[in-house]
Amino acid sequence: MCGIVGCIGRGDDTVNVLIDGLRSLEYRGYDSAGIALGPTLTVLRKAGELDALAEVVDANEPTGTYGIGHTRWSTHGPPNDRNAHPHTDENGRVAVVHNGIIENYAEIKSELEAEGVTFSSDTDTEVVPHLIARELADGVDAETAFHQAVDRLDGSYAIAAIIDSTETIFAARQGSPLVIGVGDNCTYLASDVPAFIEHTRDVIFLEDGQRVRADAEGYTVLDDNREPVEVDIETVSYTAEETGKSGYDHYMLKEIHEQPTALRQCFSGRADALDGTITLEEVGEIPQPDAVQFVACGTSYHAALYGAATLREMGIPAEAYLASEYALSPPPLSLGTLVVGITQSGETADTLAALRDAKSRGVTTLALTNTVNSTAARECDHAVYIRAGPEIGVAATKTFSSQLVGCNLLAEELVEGQLDLRPLIESLRNLPDDVQSILDSSAAEAIVEEYGDSDAYFFIGRGKNVAVALEGALKCKEISYEHAEGFPAGELKHGPLALVTPDTPVFAVVTGDDKRAQKTLGNIKEVQARGAPVIAVTDGESDAAEIADETLEIPETTERAAPVLANVQLQLFSYHLADALGRPIDKPRNLAKSVTVE
Ligand code: F6R
Repeated sequence: MCGIVGCIGRGDDTVNVLIDGLRSLEYRGYDSAGIALGPTLTVLRKAGELDALAEVVDANEPTGTYGIGHTRWSTHGPPNDRNAHPHTDENGRVAVVHNGIIENYAEIKSELEAEGVTFSSDTDTEVVPHLIARELADGVDAETAFHQAVDRLDGSYAIAAIIDSTETIFAARQGSPLVIGVGDNCTYLASDVPAFIEHTRDVIFLEDGQRVRADAEGYTVLDDNREPVEVDIETVSYTAEETGKSGYDHYMLKEIHEQPTALRQCFSGRADALDGTITLEEVGEIPQPDAVQFVACGTSYHAALYGAATLREMGIPAEAYLASEYALSPPPLSLGTLVVGITQSGETADTLAALRDAKSRGVTTLALTNTVNSTAARECDHAVYIRAGPEIGVAATKTFSSQLVGCNLLAEELVEGQLDLRPLIESLRNLPDDVQSILDSSAAEAIVEEYGDSDAYFFIGRGKNVAVALEGALKCKEISYEHAEGFPAGELKHGPLALVTPDTPVFAVVTGDDKRAQKTLGNIKEVQARGAPVIAVTDGESDAAEIADETLEIPETTERAAPVLANVQLQLFSYHLADALGRPIDKPRNLAKSVTVE
């Protein structure tokens, strides 16, 4: 977790560039923030959100011509001033920011303490400035001191360091993302592109093991052997405008409204409506797998449930696994199994661990991700991009919808000899318009007015709509802090029904009019008999709307596309509920966007 930034070459603007960069990275953590400036080392840091640091900066008016910064999501040590980054050595010559976990920090810390070093934080990171300082004390130059310190570290890290008077930023990447922004006579470093996108769209995505030296002359990327390497500069397609809120109150609302565009981008160029064919060029060479195992966390796990259900219906044995369980209790797999990691960030530690386990057992792995060049994309044998664009709100919205479309495209690409795909293609092509019609007319806000002070909210569905029910509940609890649970509708009577009262509205996701829909109508009656109001999220094909107390309507579509639409209604309900309760929607407490620890 955490976000790091750095910049050199911006002269007097440095402080503003760093603070603005950190603001764009707050989605990665917001427990504390800090900056360090050179050439005369100045460090300012503060517990709390970035505004707390901004006040300290205003009060101190620090100067500096280059610097590094950090926004923290706590792993080692509570969120307080002393644990805020940057961390320094005892003489205040070295400042370091770090995202990741240094696994052997306890051993290094004992070694340094035995040599008389006094630590001033509870973090794993603090070993790094002390290691650098020890090398400097031994008389080595600053760059060598940095490399030798980093060589001692096990674990995952993106690190940036400045050393008094060197007029250089040193950085290293191993297992946590780090990107260089190439500006005119200046260089930026960050955990993610939004941190500097208003200054440059030319970027270099660093590889694990690479290090960077950035100074007034520019930047040099070094390989494992500390030899300079040639790197490709890419121009990212999105703009500063796209990473702002564009007039919406919250990123989450903006991202909900961006779904038509996201879905269009995901689908574009991948289907031929006339021939009825779907082609993902990225996975062209994969033969039809004997089985598919999906690994994912949180919202992406719900997409995995949908993906597995889709493949099973197409005759391929498929299961969805929570990545955190898979990594430590791996299920058996045969060599013909394809393991698919669904991860919008491509950096989720649990999902990476599960994918690595699968890879170590010799099977083919594939990442379905939103993040080009992410760790998952690079480490897997194949990567399929969902092309949703940057998602800043901690609660995933447009990436989930795009993951569901991505699962459809992937399934059709993998499974040979499919029947006429034209109806599916037509419905996926219409999804952007169908989502737009929901955005234009949703009754979700009115439902919040009517039921917004309930004791709890339950969500039920069957088949692929189980994924929607679970996702509806996760989104609701995550941003509103209200009690919310999702269940396969048939499971209600096996326990959860005991929770149902007149004060617990039940959202029933009922699409189509098959056996599953009919059975869910029975479940609606069961909860109504216990006094619970029912809100049907439905396309009107079954009698759900007639039976239910309220309706959130979705346009008629295919069985595969309907869950995407139903989910949009539930996103809007959760958003308006959280808004009515005054919650910090884009940054729910205790959470961060990219979970890079296991
Ligand atoms: C919830 C949410 C999380 C993520 C999970 C996995 O709104 O966004 O549950 O889905 O942390 O993240 P990725 O998809 O980046 O692997």
